[in-house]
Amino acid sequence: MLRARIAGTGSYLPKKILTNKDFEKIVDTSDEWITTRTGIKERHIADDNESTTDMALIAAERAIDSSGVSSDDIDCILFATVTPDMNFPNGACILQDKLQTQNCIALDFSAACTGFIYGLHLANSLIATEQAKNILLVASEKLSSITDYTDRNTCVLFGDAAGAVVLTSSDTSQGILGSYAGSDGSKRELLKREGGGSRLPYNKMGPFDYAKLYLYMDGKAIFKTAVQRMTSSLGFALDKAGKKLEDLDMIIPHQANLRIIEMVREFAKLKEEQVYVNLHKTGNTSAATIPVALDEAIKEKKLKTGDILGVTAFGGGLTYGAAVIEI
Ligand SMILES: CC(C)(COP(=O)(O)OP(=O)(O)OC[C@H]1O[C@@H](n2cnc3c(N)ncnc32)[C@H](O)[C@@H]1OP(=O)(O)O)[C@@H](O)C(=O)NCCC(=O)NCCS
Repeated sequence: MLRARIAGTGSYLPKKILTNKDFEKIVDTSDEWITTRTGIKERHIADDNESTTDMALIAAERAIDSSGVSSDDIDCILFATVTPDMNFPNGACILQDKLQTQNCIALDFSAACTGFIYGLHLANSLIATEQAKNILLVASEKLSSITDYTDRNTCVLFGDAAGAVVLTSSDTSQGILGSYAGSDGSKRELLKREGGGSRLPYNKMGPFDYAKLYLYMDGKAIFKTAVQRMTSSLGFALDKAGKKLEDLDMIIPHQANLRIIEMVREFAKLKEEQVYVNLHKTGNTSAATIPVALDEAIKEKKLKTGDILGVTAFGGGLTYGAAVIEI
């Protein structure tokens, strides 16, 4: 049976950093509040002229360089984002042009913070059914472009980043062993950006509608569902992989809140060093958190060939999912 193997990883964090101390000057907050409630210390913010695909391109080039796969051989680009450069053309086509890859499948999809996991799930199916051989999966988010920097409830949480992997066809045990993706649209009001789409287009907006161009979140309600969905998704992915919690060498959970990560770690009965955390220096970068953390964990040699990795995420939609991967 064919499966998708991770052949290369890459990531990009913009240069500009906003620290908790910087936020003390912007909104009524404190380093102490942000650190104890979230674990976040700083986040990277893209320049005004730096778009989601600009960041994606750098992460993608780094992933391709480290993969041993030529960009000529990429036959599918999957692009997870909720902050695309524009409605269309999609980011995958922009990347295809900039990377000069061949005629290929070029698809953007929106699954918020679960975007990367949805991408792994899709990529594994495309490779298993021989619809693609070498897939570039990119997750890139410029959340600063939809963040209200006067709203202390949300602005301290989010950052900008891009992460990418090259997935290649494998007939060995190396690769995605099992994955799960799910949704609960009845809770879609908990995390959303309502304005700017066909329901509320820019040219129909009144002055009271402008706030709807920013991300809205009911943090408390999200928190409760996040832990339950991330842990159950990981359980489903383990079942599909024919693995157990004790088989996991490491997990990389979606980096949204350290308290959520701690609860997932307790569920998985893992030691602290088996759970990769970089949230303190990135904040929540939506779909990009897991591929950025994965790239760092591999570069820091915290993950090695043969290790069994669990990734699990949760996000707006609501969406959730997990995957179990042999590195
Ligand atoms: C957002 C979150 C950090 C808030 O933490 P919390 O412990 O639930 O805090 P509460 O919502 O109870 O808010 C407590 C108080 O802090 C205030 N507060 C909110 N943001 C604040 C900030 N940045 N600085 C200081 N105070 C803040 C609130 O206004 C509230 O004040 P009030 O009691 O006077 O109304 C937390 O709910 C969370 O992380 N939720 C999940 C978010 C998430 O993961 N989203 C992404 C999903 S992919």
